[in-house]
Amino acid sequence: MPFPESFIQELIERNDIADVVSQYVRLTKKSGQNLFGLCPFHSEKTPSFSVAPDKQIYHCFGCGKGGSVINFIMEIENLSYPDAVRFLARRVGMAVPEDEYDASASKRERMLKLNRDAARFFFAQLSEPCGAAARAYIERRGISPQMVTRFGLGAAPNEWQALTDAMLRQGYTKPELLSAGLVRASKKGDGGVYDTFRNRLMFPVIDVRGSVIGFSGRILDDGEPKYMNSPETLVYSKSHNLFALNLAKKSKLGYIILSEGNIDVVSLHQAGFDCAVASLGTSLTAEQARLISRYVNEVVIAYDGDEAGQKASQRAIGILQQLDLKVRVLRVTGAKDPDEFIKAYGPAAFENLLSKSQNHIEYRFSDVAAKHDLATDEGRVAFLKDATVLLAGLPNAVEREVYAGRAAEIAKVSKDAILREVERERKKAAGQAKKKRESEESRPLRQIQPRSRELRFDDPVSAMAEKGVLRLLCHDPTLFHGDELAEEDFSVPQFGKLYTALREQTKNGGAPSIALLQGFSGEETSLLTETVSEPFDPANADKALADYIEKIKAAKLVRMQRGENGEDTMRAFAEEQRKRKGYRG
Ligand code: CTP
Ligand code: MN
Repeated sequence: MPFPESFIQELIERNDIADVVSQYVRLTKKSGQNLFGLCPFHSEKTPSFSVAPDKQIYHCFGCGKGGSVINFIMEIENLSYPDAVRFLARRVGMAVPEDEYDASASKRERMLKLNRDAARFFFAQLSEPCGAAARAYIERRGISPQMVTRFGLGAAPNEWQALTDAMLRQGYTKPELLSAGLVRASKKGDGGVYDTFRNRLMFPVIDVRGSVIGFSGRILDDGEPKYMNSPETLVYSKSHNLFALNLAKKSKLGYIILSEGNIDVVSLHQAGFDCAVASLGTSLTAEQARLISRYVNEVVIAYDGDEAGQKASQRAIGILQQLDLKVRVLRVTGAKDPDEFIKAYGPAAFENLLSKSQNHIEYRFSDVAAKHDLATDEGRVAFLKDATVLLAGLPNAVEREVYAGRAAEIAKVSKDAILREVERERKKAAGQAKKKRESEESRPLRQIQPRSRELRFDDPVSAMAEKGVLRLLCHDPTLFHGDELAEEDFSVPQFGKLYTALREQTKNGGAPSIALLQGFSGEETSLLTETVSEPFDPANADKALADYIEKIKAAKLVRMQRGENGEDTMRAFAEEQRKRKGYRG
């Protein structure tokens, strides 16, 4: 057992799941024992994220995520299991016992130290002859020495092993360099490695705690790829971090500017907009938006002026809006991006763009208006059609009212006529949503697949029965007596593993506890919480169990007949048939 069970037990008791979750999610609704709020793991408008204080688990009926308070912290803080445990222990002032995870903790720390030393190395190269090209680039882009220091910029020399040699000299090993993504294994397969980042301007990526977690390297000319980024490592996840958030979180401006490129960010900071951040080569993710929402409640999107930038803005609006963030969109005009704009027109002009930046509804509105020729009747009708859809999608009735007024002015028709259309559109959308729900509920068994793409039910009939068994086991372990099922009987290996672990917990009359399971992935605990959250009818439980077991055994038999279980199929088949008779008889 990685952590002593008694320790985990106390940890869970002292970190009440409702308390912990409430620090991230507003739990507004109560239904029976359960609390509900908007799911922090996917975008939604009506709460389907539930917390069951009695079972000490959470489960989202929308996206399927679920688990214990430890799983919740793993997911929301992007931590490994042991780090989530440490996080919760710190929260309540508990000492963490020595454990075998210390190895992984020290691995993390060691990787962070390596990253820091690598950043120092890159920075130092700026003053060396081999840093001349990067130095010239910094100069050419007009980046000030203060910004070089503030961001800790650096130079990756145009050599194959500059960093490798320096880090090996400092006592790091090749495997350490490899797992940090700083070097790559040479194709020759001779155990040799070469530097990942060569001849690039280096931007350390620093998380909000101040640790160097990875790097972005920008090419020094117009070559491709423009940016090279650290791969996902023990300490770095591109979708969970934002470039320069470590600096922007300290800004006094009270909002965040979201831009596309690292150069834009540096340029903005240099011009006094020290609240600029950029996502690290991905389009904005929900995790990044949540990170932002911890520090501010207003975001200004300042992407490139091209079409790709505008498309990305639309996407980002959708994601930011889900988090109750006030979203404005700044249009860069007369330049391709914020950096070019500031260089051409100066900080005051950018300030002016900021003050003119529209809230996201106005922004989308002017987009729709620009698409149509409002001088013609045809164009106005087409505009109204688009505007109606846009208005119908606004959750807030006051906003619908206000912007219907705007649309009315633009198209020169009455506001009431527009609002009537909007209501019709909303009814239509609600009807479609309901239909979709119903068809999902009645979809054939064949199509019942887990939401996670990492798992597949090859045998859906058996999988449903296996879920049923787990549900019964969690609700009433006394229904189980002996060896009615073995792990190998399950068609979904994860279900088999969970069954064994839960049975183990209940062996001595204990209660099954999802919270005490260790060594299961988020996907696996989510499957379990989903299962447990389905309705349970105590009256027919024993009959249901017999039924499920019957189905599982029959399905296994079929699989064996098909020879899906490997070599000794026939022998196993015969034995299975014998056992099966025994069970029935
Ligand atoms: N990008 C990336 N990795 C980063 C940062 C940005 O892959 N760490 C990608 C973004 O996804 C986007 C593009 O690079 O597609 C943004 O580049 P751009 O704004 O052109 O970058 P800048 O650093 O501002 O460079 P330039 O001065 O050429 O605009
Ligand atoms: Mn740019």
